[in-house]
Amino acid sequence: MRRAVCPGSFDPIHNGHLEVIARAAGLFDEVIVAVSTNYAKQYRFALEERIDMARETLASLKGIVVEPVGDGLLAEYCRQRGVSAIVKGLRSSSDFDYELPMATMNRQLSGVETVFLPAEAHYLHLSSTLIKEVFTLGGSVSDFVPRSVLKRLHAGGSASETPPRG
Ligand code: PNS
Repeated sequence: MRRAVCPGSFDPIHNGHLEVIARAAGLFDEVIVAVSTNYAKQYRFALEERIDMARETLASLKGIVVEPVGDGLLAEYCRQRGVSAIVKGLRSSSDFDYELPMATMNRQLSGVETVFLPAEAHYLHLSSTLIKEVFTLGGSVSDFVPRSVLKRLHAGGSASETPPRG
């Protein structure tokens, strides 16, 4: 069983993510979409909502599961689940600059490889941040996100994660 993980905040998941996840599912027997919470970040959607949106959107695709990363290291998460590869989409050289140290660190920590898939040209401009900004300022994002995300954007999203005390 070749298992891959597609990690991210997915705040919210968008069509660019979905395209990379679908391609990863074509390369591996199972893909875990691992939803992370970084307490240094402010999220529009709570972890449960981010997971629900991903699950609703990916429900019809075989071999894909969605779960939280938890509070620990992604490398440890991969080791515990026998993950062969982390799969990441790359939109630009700045994505690569951001991803390369993490890929190297994850490999040193647990031996897990990172596989980069070049983003489809149609989705090169998409990011969760830009989509939220366009939506907040009244622009249409229906071409960029699945229906379940659009519904939740209109519903407002719940409060952002609060950092743990202490
Ligand atoms: O969508 P994001 O926020 O860019 O996703 C980043 C993610 C989830 C890949 C990264 O934050 C991560 O790996 N978090 C888990 C904690 C961890 O392992 N940190 C060390 C990375 S080398």
